[in-house]
Parts: sequence; structure tokens; C-alpha cells
Amino acid sequence: PSVLILNGPNLNLLGTRQPEVYGVTTLADVEKLCTDAGAALGFDVACVQSNHEGVLIDQIHAAKGPHDGIVLNAGAFTHTSIALMDAIASVELPVVEVHLSNIHARESFRHRSYIAPVAVGQICGFGARGYVLALDALADVFARK
Ligand code: DQA
Repeated sequence: PSVLILNGPNLNLLGTRQPEVYGVTTLADVEKLCTDAGAALGFDVACVQSNHEGVLIDQIHAAKGPHDGIVLNAGAFTHTSIALMDAIASVELPVVEVHLSNIHARESFRHRSYIAPVAVGQICGFGARGYVLALDALADVFARK
């Protein structure tokens, strides 16, 4: 199977962005972690990051076919984007929602996720390890098919 790791706005700044909230792991570290964890599960892993909502939507559309599932950290678009929700609902691909921080323990505007209703599940609060947990969860989803 093939999995797309899709990271949204400001996640390119990981490592230097509010390290007290998001840790010191860089996006390159996260992507390496995903590639290695994916390989151990027998997955091909492709990684994309964009700060642009439309690019993320295009990536979700284009994932259908080449990929079997998506690990998505949509950043702040999680809390705002009906368009991303609709994109996920439109492609029949399992999506696991990931957040480095525990969004439910933060400001109330972060408690709402437009991704959650169309995701297989949500993993948050475990830092970069959440991406590995998400890949593990996708392995179970693929095994059930
Ligand atoms: C985030 C949480 C979001 O609320 C925030 O806007 C982000 C990062 C996380 O990974 O914890 O950009 O998705």
C-alpha cells in the first residue's frame, strides 16, 4: 500500500515554531520518521506540505488512485475548512487526522475539527509520534479491507 502524509499551513516551520507547543522536531524529521515507520509496515510513503488550502484540496483529489490512505495534519484549516472536509468526503480514501498538540486542551476554537467527521479517527497530543500511530492505524484499516 501507499500512503500520503499531508501537512498543512505553518508546519514547514516545525522545529522553530512555538517549540513549547510543537516540540523541536522539524518537518524533515517528521517525514523521515513517517518514511521509516511506513517502510517497516510495508508502505510506500509520499510526503507533501503546503500552506495553501487549494493545494491541499488538489492533493486530496489526486491521492485517489496512487495512494490507499492519507495521514493529514491540516493545521489551522482543521478548524475552518468545510472545503477540505468536502474534499475528503468526495474521495473514498481512509484519512487519519493527526495533530502534534492536544487540540482539545487548547483554545476553544481548536476544539472543533471539520476533518474529524470524515476521518477514520483522530490522533492528537503525542507530538511527532502521532504520525507513526496514524500509520499503524492505517495498517489495521487496510487489513480489514
Ligand atoms: C496543529 C494544531 C492546530 O490547531 C494548529 O493550527 C496547527 C498545528 C497541531 O499539529 O497540533 O497549525 O494541527
